[in-house]
Amino acid sequence: MSYRVAVLPGDGIGPEVVTEAVKVLKATGLAFEFTEALVGGAAYDAKGHPLPAETLELCKQSDAVLLGAVGGPMWDKIEPVSMRPEVGALLPLRAELNLYANVRPAKMIPALADACPLKGNPKIDLVVMRELTGGIYFGRPRERQEGGNRAIDTMVYSRHEVERITHRAFEIARQRRKEVVSVDKANVLECSRLWREVVNEIAPQYPDVKLSHMLVDNCAMQLVRTPQQFDVILTENMFGDILSDEASMITGSLGLLPSASLSDAKASGKVFGLYEPIHGSAPDIAGQGKANPIATILSAAMMLQYTFGEDAVAARIESAVEKVLESRLRTGDIFTEGMTLVGTSQMGDAISKAVQA
Ligand code: IPM
Ligand code: MG
Repeated sequence: MSYRVAVLPGDGIGPEVVTEAVKVLKATGLAFEFTEALVGGAAYDAKGHPLPAETLELCKQSDAVLLGAVGGPMWDKIEPVSMRPEVGALLPLRAELNLYANVRPAKMIPALADACPLKGNPKIDLVVMRELTGGIYFGRPRERQEGGNRAIDTMVYSRHEVERITHRAFEIARQRRKEVVSVDKANVLECSRLWREVVNEIAPQYPDVKLSHMLVDNCAMQLVRTPQQFDVILTENMFGDILSDEASMITGSLGLLPSASLSDAKASGKVFGLYEPIHGSAPDIAGQGKANPIATILSAAMMLQYTFGEDAVAARIESAVEKVLESRLRTGDIFTEGMTLVGTSQMGDAISKAVQA
């Protein structure tokens, strides 16, 4: 039985980096069935919609989705906003595929530790567990009133939404250093008070995991002060959006970090997930063979781990990436004096070779 993967290259550098990730997946020797589909601006141009029905259907029929990136200046002014790549493709993909658990590791890569902007290059190895299908991103009403002069967004959480993401956070903490910091704004927001209540109720089911709570403003401050204190940060949608950008920047490896957006296990027992780099479509360097494919390759490794349970093969990809970086190969974005400058496909080739070795 081969693993069925929907491949959505998307826009900008998306197609280039996805090609390399597929190359590395093939190099593992595992059996895959890859099917490509259009998404984002590319889909809008070809089909008139950033998330065509057939693309969504393909995702639903697959075990996992590998996504490049969507968006770019050509599509930034499309009206209505709901037809733009980010809002019209990413958000509905998350909602339609029930991808409620967004896993964003922020881990410093040893060979690139010098790129860390913090003093003393603290050893950062944390995961932001972001709730991805609720909160202010999806709450209703969401509208303009008074002739456009008043705007409303709504933050809503229900117990069930908090429960399921909390379980995922504790499960992931169990595979790591067994510490969860739940981040909220319980001194102000009712949603946060519910959040804290539910997290506290579930925690006793994981007696081996240490739980603490932190207000989001304090968390933002602690992240730049002593990021090594964090193992798993569990938080709601918008706080997770902001904190995950902050967490990834301080590793110095912003362009190299992967992400997974997970749903529940399917009947097959496989956890359905969408895997994508956290970086964007970088239209300025698209089509030039310069993009760094590492974040997408590491996203493919997360796919092997979380959807297919191939932990050992995933670890092989991660160490292949580290080995290639230690051998001083660099794409332009991480190039420094004394290193060897390579393009997108050379980087993919080197990592594939290291995976096979
Ligand atoms: C992210 C992005 C998206 C988000 C945007 C593009 C809608 O910032 O994945 O973090 O806010 O979730
Ligand atoms: Mg974001």
